[in-house]
Amino acid sequence: MIIIKSEDEIEKMREAGRITALILQEVARMVKPGVPTSRLNEYAERRTRELGAIPAFKNYPHPSGLIRYPASICVSINEEVVHGIPSRNKVIREGDLVSLDFGVIKDGYYGDSALTVGVEPLDDRRRELLNVTKEALYRGIEAAKPGARLSDISNAVQTYVESHGFGIVRDFTGHGIGSSLHEEPQIPNFGPKGRGPVLRERMTFAIEPMVAMGDWRVMVKSDGWTAVTVDGLPSAHFEHTIVVREGEAEILTKVE
Ligand code: CO
Repeated sequence: MIIIKSEDEIEKMREAGRITALILQEVARMVKPGVPTSRLNEYAERRTRELGAIPAFKNYPHPSGLIRYPASICVSINEEVVHGIPSRNKVIREGDLVSLDFGVIKDGYYGDSALTVGVEPLDDRRRELLNVTKEALYRGIEAAKPGARLSDISNAVQTYVESHGFGIVRDFTGHGIGSSLHEEPQIPNFGPKGRGPVLRERMTFAIEPMVAMGDWRVMVKSDGWTAVTVDGLPSAHFEHTIVVREGEAEILTKVE
């Protein structure tokens, strides 16, 4: 069942989204050559507490139930697609594509957002990968309107990404979000149009295309979390938390 939120709940999600977006933007500005990814995590965690929120990912249980995510922000570089773990031994370099995925809980409600920063100098294909992934997110958001079907989002993302010769990652999906980080439905980034539940006003989704420069296939490393492309080519990830509205969706994780 997809939970339709009240305006009061949406207001709380707006605040969680605002804090998520603000911190994500601040961390994005820290992405520079020579910076260890642990520094981004320390900043995100401190800033979250300072703003009266709770990091949403820290200690989040793995689907296996055997381990928990050990940090507050996911930092995934190049062939790492999602769920990279920050470390003192991982240092950002020129030309890197650094994907940041972050969320908070505020007043019982979640925000979730991701973006990828390109560290200059960037080659043309990497720059294109960033632009296409970001635009794919916006195509998905545009497809999320009352009366549409869930898979219209999936199809809009996949069609756009593949028209640029990139691979859309299939092993991870977007998701419903609210008083849990992951609610129904799962939102795949591929598939035919016209399938799945009809979308209604006040449904809240995290839409998150993950795009690979080459083949879409990924594998998870032995840390149990870090997903990497099998062919070793770089990837990008953009995500927003949105509310379905008549007209166009409201983006909750946008910075003013
Ligand atoms: Co998410």
